[in-house]
Amino acid sequence: STERTLVLVKPDGVARGLTGTILSRIEAKGYSIADLKQVYATRDLLEQHYAEHAGKPFFEPLVEFMLSGPIVAAVFEGQRVIEGFRSLAGATEPTTAAPGTIRGDLGRDWGVKVQQNLVHGSDSTESAEREIGVWFA
Ligand code: CMP
Repeated sequence: STERTLVLVKPDGVARGLTGTILSRIEAKGYSIADLKQVYATRDLLEQHYAEHAGKPFFEPLVEFMLSGPIVAAVFEGQRVIEGFRSLAGATEPTTAAPGTIRGDLGRDWGVKVQQNLVHGSDSTESAEREIGVWFA
């Protein structure tokens, strides 16, 4: 059935001028933009979005990174878009993410505490609906 997923172009992607490229790659795979905006996150919003990572060693650097600049938030829709976008995004670590993926082609290690990996995508139908509610309240 048709699904929706939350995609974030993180501050590194926006700062590097890759927003258009990234959205274009998702559209080119066949998914549709259902909603789109540029936003500055707040700590409160990020604590909701990343609730499952609270307490992990990278949580604070992750929040600081996500507050460092504008983010582009999008809702994409299509058949199996959650799985399809995660496949397109590639593995968490850009250094070893497969070539052909967004992270593998456009990202690398910048020597900082948090993985600056250009994009976020929801990992299940439940988290997608929850995250869409957080970013598009
Ligand atoms: P994301 O899909 O947005 O979910 C959590 C984020 O934390 C992840 O992408 C990375 O940016 C970051 N991250 C995940 N694991 C680690 C890790 N082991 N060390 C540093 N950053 C991480």
